[in-house]
Amino acid sequence: MRVRIFTNADTVARVLSHDIARRLARNPRLVIGLPTGRTPIPLYREVVRLHRAGRADLSRAITFNLDEFVGLSGSDPRSYRAFMQRHLFDCINLPRRRIHFLDGTARDLARECLRYERAIDRAGGIDLQILGLGANGHIGFNEPARALVARTHRTRLRAATRRANAALFGGRLADVPHDALSMGMATILYAKRIVLVATGASKAGCVARMIDGPVTPRVPASFLQLHRHAEVWLDRAAASRL
Ligand code: GLP
Repeated sequence: MRVRIFTNADTVARVLSHDIARRLARNPRLVIGLPTGRTPIPLYREVVRLHRAGRADLSRAITFNLDEFVGLSGSDPRSYRAFMQRHLFDCINLPRRRIHFLDGTARDLARECLRYERAIDRAGGIDLQILGLGANGHIGFNEPARALVARTHRTRLRAATRRANAALFGGRLADVPHDALSMGMATILYAKRIVLVATGASKAGCVARMIDGPVTPRVPASFLQLHRHAEVWLDRAAASRL
């Protein structure tokens, strides 16, 4: 894995947004996998800035988000879809039909997961997958476990992950869904290029386990070690235990 260390989170966001803009200029139909969470917020802010400055055209890009809560519709302000609308989609020129999201309210969730896998295939696969990192080593909602799931699936969230997401629910832990839909490990690892972003001291221990530890389902992000073009972009704080 190629590890890049930057002075702070804003620099990570600025450099990565320029990298994405360059890739879009070369390939306007870039298929991008996107995460939610606090980490990508500065990145989305920078992408919006570049777009407003006429330096990032997303009119022909295609996006697939990693995950969504079960039971929340995209119009629910607490959903990941709504998060993405607020931080990115409402502020750029990406047509609605080119945005792909898992529907956490689908009647048949297994079928919904299959639909998502097929949509990714039809788009020709993901060119660039951006990832955040859960403090327990999860990526998307692939939680640490004895065994991981390859494809998009329904998953049960760990207590720590529900706590980490409580802010979206006004801090009310009881309101955080227990289940989510998530791309699976193979869905993620089939992306042509992966950039995992981790910032802040709270991620330092997990970053060290992901990079220097063994490949283990106890740290799902450690599977990125198997990918030919996986990069980890860190600020100094997140890199402090390497
Ligand atoms: C959530 C998301 C992950 C994300 C993680 C880290 O659980 N499902 O995709 O990477 O949180 O979030 P943060 O960036 O807020 O630390």
